Amino acid sequence: MPRLLHTSIGDVLIRTATLADVDGYRALRLEALQNHPTAFGQSYEDIVARPSSYWVERLQPDPNLSVFFAEHEGTLIGMTGIIRPGAPKVKHSATIWGVYVNAAWRGQRIAEALIESCLDWARANKVGIVKLAVVSDNQSAIRCYERCGFKTYGTEPQAIFYDGKYYDEYLMVRFVDRV
Ligand SMILES: CC(C)(COP(=O)(O)OP(=O)(O)OC[C@H]1O[C@@H](n2cnc3c(N)ncnc32)[C@H](O)[C@@H]1OP(=O)(O)O)[C@@H](O)C(=O)NCCC(=O)NCCS
Repeated sequence: MPRLLHTSIGDVLIRTATLADVDGYRALRLEALQNHPTAFGQSYEDIVARPSSYWVERLQPDPNLSVFFAEHEGTLIGMTGIIRPGAPKVKHSATIWGVYVNAAWRGQRIAEALIESCLDWARANKVGIVKLAVVSDNQSAIRCYERCGFKTYGTEPQAIFYDGKYYDEYLMVRFVDRV
């Protein structure tokens, strides 16, 4: 279900991705990877070189994943995705990835609304456990995830290596009531 968020700097629509988003998706994801290299496992240099088919493939309808965007006046300003494995013994658990909000729109609880959309998707798809990983010094993200009910259950040492330095990740979980 799309949701409308009234922020102090304008209205923001939170909605599911469609194939028409391919250019905006590429631009937003590359902005995230370029500006926050330690926040994501993928590298800008690797992803910028991918052909357009790579982006189209990621927006194809798929029962095991969903991508959500935050949009203001036709421009994508935030995103996240949720994915689960298809195998019967593990499909009750999903992972949130790629949480990003454009710098001009931060502090407006947009990431929280994106994560709530992922949690709604989990409920509707009989997923009872939602997990994510966040670099241990990323206080903005950790505060947002804790507000959304996530709790840290472990630490992955040296999960990210960038520019000569290792970064640990906190592993977080949120249990969800299946509909
Ligand atoms: C983490 C991120 C997605 C949070 O998005 P958001 O929509 O601003 O989230 P919220 O509005 O819930 O704010 C979360 C926290 O960010 C901090 N914050 C508030 N205003 C901010 C601003 N203008 N700029 C930066 N951080 C701000 C605050 O600590 C806030 O928590 P608090 O209000 O409890 O103090 C966003 O900062 C971002 O895209 N960061 C870069 C990419 C990233 O780190 N992604 C997460 C990967 S795991």
